[in-house]
Amino acid sequence: MSNTTLFCPSQLDAQLLNKLHQPLPRYTSYPTAPNWSTLSESTYEKHLRGLSSPLSLYLHIPFCRSMCLYCGCSVILNRRPENEERYVSYLEKEINLVSQLLRQRMEVHQIHFGGGTPTQLSAPLLQRIITLLHTTFSLEKIKELAIEIDPRTVIEDKGAKLKFLKELGFNRISFGVQDTDAKVQAAILRRQSRDTTFYTYHLARELGFSHINIDLIYGLPHQTKASFRQTIEDILSMRPDRISLFSYAKIPWLKPHQRAIKAYTLPSTEEKLQIYALSRETLIQKGYLAIGMDHFALETDEMAQAYHNKTLCRNFQGYTVEMAPNMIGFGVTAIGLVNNCYAQNLKDLPSYYATLDQGHLPVTRGKELSKEDLLHKWVIHTLMCRFEIDKKEFFSRFGVAFDTYFSSIQDRLNDFERDGLLIQHPDKLLATSLGELFVRNLATTFDAYLQQAPSTQFSQSI
Ligand SMILES: C[S@@+](CC[C@H](N)C(=O)[O-])C[C@H]1O[C@@H](n2cnc3c(N)ncnc32)[C@H](O)[C@@H]1O
Ligand code: SF4
Repeated sequence: MSNTTLFCPSQLDAQLLNKLHQPLPRYTSYPTAPNWSTLSESTYEKHLRGLSSPLSLYLHIPFCRSMCLYCGCSVILNRRPENEERYVSYLEKEINLVSQLLRQRMEVHQIHFGGGTPTQLSAPLLQRIITLLHTTFSLEKIKELAIEIDPRTVIEDKGAKLKFLKELGFNRISFGVQDTDAKVQAAILRRQSRDTTFYTYHLARELGFSHINIDLIYGLPHQTKASFRQTIEDILSMRPDRISLFSYAKIPWLKPHQRAIKAYTLPSTEEKLQIYALSRETLIQKGYLAIGMDHFALETDEMAQAYHNKTLCRNFQGYTVEMAPNMIGFGVTAIGLVNNCYAQNLKDLPSYYATLDQGHLPVTRGKELSKEDLLHKWVIHTLMCRFEIDKKEFFSRFGVAFDTYFSSIQDRLNDFERDGLLIQHPDKLLATSLGELFVRNLATTFDAYLQQAPSTQFSQSI
């Protein structure tokens, strides 16, 4: 299928590329965040009360010691340990407040610590959070305890923190690397030597971590085909189980620090595409399975197996192997999905703290999903995860014929078929290898809100 026939995006004709290269959502949620609105505490409480096991939990740790200029995440610059201690005590308040609303001690199957940089927290603070989670939830059947790691934060103590993470039970780790070239690193203000990356990776292996992921970004300043080929070779010499190869999401209207990256230092769209195409081709040749646009996994990794078995899932963090139907988000800006209602916490620390001080849940925005939303969400996430839609399954789930429900978008589907992104069978829609690459474009066809959301809210598809 898509990964045995090597599709080379650089062979795309310029006209089609221009057509597909648009600002598009990544569909880590549907409807996407710009279509959410104010969510009251009482509505969020109602949905928390109605929850049943199993759950996923997301904990947001926003702190970073320095700001990488490209960063699009929710980050708070901080170098003072007392601020981290304070944050953890509020995280504890929030967990306790939420747990009082849950019907019982809920079973949790997956926990993800994201950021910012969760490994910015000291070992005792990480221990405090894990201990509270153990007393609040039932973690006996947990499958994934995942954490995002900045290698620069675990090298200072010669690996003691990494060892501690293993002892705490973390079994899925992801390292941020982005690019190994010194000139690129200087331009993004992220200096991370190859030694730092190699040392942390090999130590993690020695400690017995498996399913290790490494994050890379293409489209950064001063990147060239030759320089990024070296980055890919550096990463391949470690042979991580998974590689995330993200397109640089340039969103300066949301992240003003990105303006410090001068436009003339960025690769052109054509060069960016060539960097991506070359990297994709190399990774596939070296035994990685390409999953959609930005994920690569060794055939031995469970993510590759989930792709083949069509059991891959998509949540706020991107593709994942495990996902409970409900996820509670804790921490500033954290997002959850409870009882078919998206809920996002307050985005600034003073309001997050003040709301918890008053004994209230720090929720601010969200979206209760209607029947139509659930239908569109299923179609979009099925397409993103399985790269096909089974019309019979659609009928058995929603009691309406796929072709009837989506008759108004038939022209757009035909258009995608003509462009070689899609094959339409009577019972199925199948994304081609080109369609897998541009699956976000295909998904927009089924997004009932896209017309309402200004397109500038999203980053470009490539
Ligand atoms: C929260 S960070 C990872 C953990 C840690 N803070 C680090 O940087 O090593 C998650 C990942 O998001 C990706 N990322 C951040 N900003 C991005 C952007 N503007 N475009 C594309 N990817 C981005 C990076 O690959 C980064 O490793
Ligand atoms: S990429 Fe990671 S370390 Fe850099 S600012 Fe963003 S969250 Fe912090």
